[in-house]
Amino acid sequence: MSEEPQLEARLEAQEAFEPPASFVEQANVTDESIYEAFEEEWPAAWERAADLLDWEREWDQTLDDSEEPFYEWFVGGELNACANCVDRHLDERGDQPAIEWVGEPGETRTYSYSELHEEVNAAAATLRDLGVETDDVVTLYMPMIPELPIVMLACARIGAPHSVVFAGFSASALAERMEAADSDVLVTCDGYYRRGSPLDHLSKAREGLDQVDEATTVVVERLGEDAPSTVGSEHVYGDLVDPHRGSEVEPVTRDAEDMLFLMYTSGTTGKPKGVKHTTGGYLSYTAWTSHAVLDIEPADTYWCAADIGWITGHSYIVYGPLALGTTTVMYEGTPDYPEKDRLWEIVDDYDVNQLYTAPTAIRSFMKWGTEHPDTHDLSSLRLLGTVGEPINPRAWKWYYRHIGGSSCPVVDTWWQTETGGMMISTLPGVGTMKPGTAGPPLPGIGADVVDSEGVSVAPGEAGYLVVDRPWPGMLRTLYQNDERFLEEYWNSYSDPEDGEWVYSPEDGAKLDDDGYITVLGRVDDVVNVSGHRIGTMEVESAIVGVEGVAEAAVVGSDHPVKGEVIYAYAITEEGQPETESFREEIVESVEDGIGSFARPAEVVFTPELPKTRSGKIMRRLLADIANDDTLGNTSTLRNPDIVTDIQQEVREEEDR
Ligand code: WTA
Repeated sequence: MSEEPQLEARLEAQEAFEPPASFVEQANVTDESIYEAFEEEWPAAWERAADLLDWEREWDQTLDDSEEPFYEWFVGGELNACANCVDRHLDERGDQPAIEWVGEPGETRTYSYSELHEEVNAAAATLRDLGVETDDVVTLYMPMIPELPIVMLACARIGAPHSVVFAGFSASALAERMEAADSDVLVTCDGYYRRGSPLDHLSKAREGLDQVDEATTVVVERLGEDAPSTVGSEHVYGDLVDPHRGSEVEPVTRDAEDMLFLMYTSGTTGKPKGVKHTTGGYLSYTAWTSHAVLDIEPADTYWCAADIGWITGHSYIVYGPLALGTTTVMYEGTPDYPEKDRLWEIVDDYDVNQLYTAPTAIRSFMKWGTEHPDTHDLSSLRLLGTVGEPINPRAWKWYYRHIGGSSCPVVDTWWQTETGGMMISTLPGVGTMKPGTAGPPLPGIGADVVDSEGVSVAPGEAGYLVVDRPWPGMLRTLYQNDERFLEEYWNSYSDPEDGEWVYSPEDGAKLDDDGYITVLGRVDDVVNVSGHRIGTMEVESAIVGVEGVAEAAVVGSDHPVKGEVIYAYAITEEGQPETESFREEIVESVEDGIGSFARPAEVVFTPELPKTRSGKIMRRLLADIANDDTLGNTSTLRNPDIVTDIQQEVREEEDR
């Protein structure tokens, strides 16, 4: 046997990896005692996170838990997030790149901290001119172009919360989010590049605007002459911003608990939830986790290959890394354009030190083969990270070996839009890594796995993940909906009479003997397609909106690369032909209602849906059918006998 296959075989069998010595030598956190220190000093221990920032006024109290679960952190403290991410770095590293941007067609832009400062100030002055006041919600609907973080920071500067809507969302999804946030200012762009072609974004934005009350609209000209639709009555970003270059806008002093931004995410119902994050707690938490888990230092070039339209990009492309004064890389396009080595080319060109990406991307890289990373020098990498879904040990090991050269720790970070930042992960300079297992809760984080009664389960048993202590990065509420906040996150396991408040993330998990947590996936009606969180009810409501559809049920089905894909089961109305074109109509309706990333992989017409006696659709059973060939492939579901048989079985099961 040659050395290569032997090495692979050994790696396949290995279940635990120690942090590489070369990494530990220089790591930000190397002492295991940090866990204990957090326990002993809790909640004051969290001040070390807040101490990573510059405060205009020191807080009076670390944690106020008098109105549980409406916790407040760093109470009385005052700061500005933009000043922390930009201004405070000017003296020491004004000329250092803050943002390295790579456009898909190959052009690049570098913004030093001084240049970023100038851009952000000009954008802030522009927003002010447009009448944006403190606490007005500004909606941003942009792809991965530099103006997106620039305008986010400009909003933060003037104390106007932003609500970023992922550019892949449809027009009506945009409209729904603007209405829900009472937002009447939109910053968008003419388009962007995807696989070499200019993509029209403005038409989609306009279509969304048609569905809302009047809104002031600003359009960034990303494509210019290549733009499929020209700017009309909208303001042109460049025209507004240019005259303000060189002017300064004083950062607005914000209370620690003032809202920094809103981010809409999917939940159990058809209506997206407006997750509210604050200035002091969120920024401290993203800075702290960037420092402790991603091991970021100012001299690093760090790359999170997510999209800023999702929470990962907010926390770990923009706020965390910039708060620490590092160089953050942004890439506009897809990882396989023009070739499948695009990411490795960027790592090589920019000497990237940390790479943070999603398991779905890693599984694609595996599929494409090692020849793509092998042709590039990836030796600048010091740490690798993953987020968004469970990573299978094979993909973890591939990443470790073929991207990290077996000398970079891999942090598998579990967290959510609601948690603001990472919650469960090994500390890369401290903990043993176990592929497939995220790790212990981070220092100061209380997490457990419980049964449906809220009782801790034994190691090795599957249960529900819970978080039983507050943390600074936590969501404070759902925008203008405290009731839903309590209902969705705090009702399942809390015992208010005993003063026990337990946050429920709606994930299944299990613990091992070392206290490491393996997250198994969602236990609510949310599917995770390529790391995109999609509510099945949202997809269902788009499908039942199609004339001729009587009823629909949507479930996730396992997929080797995407993690999950969407299976849609539809009952047609009497007389509606179940044709291919009707199927297409259903798919289009999902694209229009949510976005093409939520496109069902299969649309199955069925005469019936399995239901419980109380009439609830048994999604779990449909998911089993979608996942299990022995239950019949999708076409067999068309056979009413199968469905009734399954139903019969289930009823018998229920009666027993
Ligand atoms: C899943 C993304 C396993 C989980 C930051 C969670 C993970 C949901 C991991 C949140 C991980 C995220 N291992 N599952 N390391 N990270 N998840 O809000 O189901 O888009 O509840 O936030 O992604 O997705 P969201």
